[in-house]
Amino acid sequence: MLSNFWLLIYVLTSSFFFTSHSYNNKCLRHQEILLLQFRDELIFNSTLSTKLVRWNESGECCLWHGVECDASGYVVSLQLDDEAISGGIGDSSSLFRFKYLQKLNLAYNFFYHTDVYTGLAIPKGIGNLIYLTHLNLSYAGFDGQVPSEISTLTRLASLDISGYGYIIPEKPNLEMLVKNLTELRELYLDDVRITSLHERKNWGHIISSHLPNLTSLSLSYCNLFGPLPKSFWQLHSLSILRLDGNDLSAVALDDLFTNFPSLTTLTLSDCKLNGSIPSTFGNLTKLIHVDLSSNHFTGSLPSTLFANLTKLIHVDLAMNSLTGSLSSTFFEGLSNLLHLYLLGNSFSGNIPRSLFALPSLLELVLSNNQFNGTFQLNHLQSLPNLTVLGLSGNSLSVDVGNFNSSSSGGFQLKVLDLASCNLSKFPDFIKYLDLERLDLSNNHIGGEIPSWVWGAQLEHLDLSFNLFTHMQKPYLIPASLRFLSLDSNQLKGKLQLPIPLESQLQYIDIANNSLSGELQLPIPFMSNVEDLFLADNNLSGSIPTSLCNATHLRVLDLSGNILSGSIPPCLLGNFFALDLSRNNISGDIPDDFSMGCTLQYINLNNNSLEGKIPRSLSSCLLMYMNVGNNMLNDTFPCMLAPSLLALVLHSNRFHGYLRCHINWPNLQILDVSSNNFSGSLESINFSSWTAMMLPSDGKLRGGTYGSMYSSIVTLTMKGQVVELPYIRLDFCTIDLSSNNFYGKIPNAIGDLTSLHQLNFSHNSLNGIIPKSFGQLKNLESLDLSVNQLAGPIPEELGGLTFLSKLNLSYNKFVGAIPKGRQIQTFSADSFQGNPGLCGFPLDINCINTNVPPPGFDENGEEKREIEWEYVCAAVGYVVGVGSIVWLLLFCRSFREKYFGKIEEVVEDMFIARDMRRRRARRAAAAMNRVRRQ
Ligand SMILES: *[C@@H]1O[C@H](CO)[C@@H](O)[C@H](O)[C@H]1NC(C)=O
Ligand SMILES: *[C@@H]1O[C@H](CO)[C@@H](O)[C@H](O)[C@H]1NC(C)=O
Ligand SMILES: *[C@@H]1O[C@H](CO)[C@@H](O)[C@H](O)[C@H]1NC(C)=O
Ligand SMILES: *[C@@H]1O[C@H](CO)[C@@H](O)[C@H](O)[C@H]1NC(C)=O
Ligand SMILES: *[C@@H]1O[C@H](CO)[C@@H](O)[C@H](O)[C@H]1NC(C)=O
Ligand SMILES: *[C@@H]1O[C@H](CO)[C@@H](O)[C@H](O)[C@H]1NC(C)=O
Repeated sequence: MLSNFWLLIYVLTSSFFFTSHSYNNKCLRHQEILLLQFRDELIFNSTLSTKLVRWNESGECCLWHGVECDASGYVVSLQLDDEAISGGIGDSSSLFRFKYLQKLNLAYNFFYHTDVYTGLAIPKGIGNLIYLTHLNLSYAGFDGQVPSEISTLTRLASLDISGYGYIIPEKPNLEMLVKNLTELRELYLDDVRITSLHERKNWGHIISSHLPNLTSLSLSYCNLFGPLPKSFWQLHSLSILRLDGNDLSAVALDDLFTNFPSLTTLTLSDCKLNGSIPSTFGNLTKLIHVDLSSNHFTGSLPSTLFANLTKLIHVDLAMNSLTGSLSSTFFEGLSNLLHLYLLGNSFSGNIPRSLFALPSLLELVLSNNQFNGTFQLNHLQSLPNLTVLGLSGNSLSVDVGNFNSSSSGGFQLKVLDLASCNLSKFPDFIKYLDLERLDLSNNHIGGEIPSWVWGAQLEHLDLSFNLFTHMQKPYLIPASLRFLSLDSNQLKGKLQLPIPLESQLQYIDIANNSLSGELQLPIPFMSNVEDLFLADNNLSGSIPTSLCNATHLRVLDLSGNILSGSIPPCLLGNFFALDLSRNNISGDIPDDFSMGCTLQYINLNNNSLEGKIPRSLSSCLLMYMNVGNNMLNDTFPCMLAPSLLALVLHSNRFHGYLRCHINWPNLQILDVSSNNFSGSLESINFSSWTAMMLPSDGKLRGGTYGSMYSSIVTLTMKGQVVELPYIRLDFCTIDLSSNNFYGKIPNAIGDLTSLHQLNFSHNSLNGIIPKSFGQLKNLESLDLSVNQLAGPIPEELGGLTFLSKLNLSYNKFVGAIPKGRQIQTFSADSFQGNPGLCGFPLDINCINTNVPPPGFDENGEEKREIEWEYVCAAVGYVVGVGSIVWLLLFCRSFREKYFGKIEEVVEDMFIARDMRRRRARRAAAAMNRVRRQ
């Protein structure tokens, strides 16, 4: 009571004595002591701190960085954002004794337990700071429940508690939190986890009924959904609205655009919005910043969409499905425009001329559309400030003409993406630029890679899919380089990396060291190269051991060359992804993987490797392993870690049983075809492969693996770009073909409901096709050919509507071919070699389909066991089928020619994510980097 009284006196007197704003900022001694006490409580990194570190006793404390006082010298504002503060703030901290504090900003710090990296709760003491009008605790490292004390700070005008760790629980919930904050004008809760389903649905009503005068609302990635109630449209003062990453598919955009005419910022990226962009968008005449990227918008843009939006600075419509051409005047009048992102749509026609009358433009990204015609680089002369230009992946012919950036007086370009632009010559003007990123992939540029391409700031260089034959010497690979792709060119010679010198050389100059015919990659000792792609060239010789010294390397792709020799042991374990497939590499795979091995992807397919799978591979959290088409002689690699997603052992000399004690719950792809595995199928624990089963809700798992990785792994197999481990979560396949498996097909196969492909062909399986196969609703391809399977073909196979490839030939099936819709679409080839089968599509009529075939009851169940057991080399039993079967079983090359192998299918799946997506994502990544700067 007493203190309130004195406060009143203080407020009255101070407003009496200091009516003007000329505060004298006289530091009160006790405030200074308190500030120093607070600083001493905090743990902060003095190298990174810019404010706290400069507080010192000699100066006037009200002038310290980040401190503001009121007229009488009381601290009213503490701006300590981005000060590298770690550890916590206790409830008894001196912070809470700054009684008159109005503004507190602790954003972007590290308030967490530094030893375990779990966040600390926001201190409840915050409730003592009753005069707070501005509170910013965004991304401060705190986490857990947002304390109810915040809801008592009724003077708050601006509240920012955005951050990944924050939770607004059922109690106190969002409504309780904001209910009494009637002064609030700005509310930012990005990335906060709101746990109440009711509130995630009714957030619009909660906000609008309690905070009708909001000017800024930011609720990105809060897992909210629509539709929005009428009351939401009463938020007439709203000028900033950010709702990215929520499900707003049920929100009527027309309402949004017509009811908020004062919006200056509108971001609705990744909101599952669809349909066309309504023309009412053109009413938002105050708009400065708009982001509608990564939605499902379709249709063309109204031709006068931007006519009255002359204040626009930032426009992002990337990654939608927008179509149509843009009139030449489309961007006329947007004289403030700095950033325009249209990448990843289907816009067509010419690039509108009006773009080249916007001299302020900084970033122009039109990549991955269907723009066509000729683009004269001379246009760039009217865009002197441009730092980012993306034209990749259109149907443009870029005409370099006599464009020469030096003559146009200095260019700012940092990012230049001209992939698939029909270039046949290295554009000369690049010589005068100081680029960070250059993408000239997928053009027809031949000859040498000019030495001036290696600019001092270059981070990302992609010259893949061209016709380059050699590199002009001398050249200096800059230490800034992180990504280099020279995939699919005609580079020849031995791959050579210089042995790094003891000294910390920035560059290694190989000018006087030109060993003819060697592709020298002088990667600097202090190099940051992370991704190195040299696939599909003509590189020979052995893999240089000096590669092991490139300590930052995470992805190495040398596939599709003519490299020989063995794998240097030091190479293993440092990588995230290693692709040496399609070379002539021989010897054993070194058993040198160490604890903590980071390898997740290894492809050694198609070499001449011998020996065994190294036991030490168990140290790696391997997800993908392909050692197909080698001469490995081993048993099934049971030691691989449970992280395994895909395993390809195709065409080696593997033998023994397919039985492990370990479980691979993530396994989706298994190809052990064309080996000497044996054993009864019934001994394989199919039911432990739970990833091959649909989740209990029956819904397909959407998405892909890989989102947990910070960067994309793009690899090349057989000349096609493949992204891994972006394995579709719902794609599963098993290929056990061409081995010596025998016995019955277990019923449990029917539980592998995510299976897309199943191949058991060329074994010695007997018994019937289990009726449980009817549950394999996603099955697209089923091959059981060349076995000893018998009985009728179950009617249930007719219900597999996705089945597009079926091969049951050369078995002992009997009876009528089922009449199911899908099964009737297959040709006679699918059924031939089964003398007991009849009905369409075979030419044999069924006499009486109701009579069960001999040996089976009316349910198609076998009455007795088939007596024989498989004998591997018993050619004798194939009498009825003839020599073709013998050929198929025992002549490997013939077999490979006629039967598709899983690895090809798998590759197709990945190739489906075509170049376009790959480039779009790379461009987006580059853009983000630029944006962050
Ligand atoms: C402080 O930050 C610098 C720069 O990031 C870092 O090198 C240093 O190790 C940090 N110091 C402490 C004590 O964390
Ligand atoms: C809001 O204010 C009312 C009246 O002052 C009070 O009774 C109530 O407890 C407050 N609610 C919250 C959530 O603080
Ligand atoms: C909102 O603003 C209006 C008009 O300025 C005012 O009458 C009303 O009290 C305000 N509402 C709240 C909850 O602050
Ligand atoms: C908004 O735009 C539509 C169509 O573009 C127009 O018919 C309507 O009058 C505009 N509304 C306002 C309030 O300006
Ligand atoms: C632009 O604004 C003018 C004046 O308010 C109006 O007449 C015109 O219809 C608007 N154009 C569009 C395309 O909205
Ligand atoms: C460009 O695309 C437009 C629209 O798709 C088409 O009409 C036109 O013929 C194309 N022009 C060229 C040169 O291909």
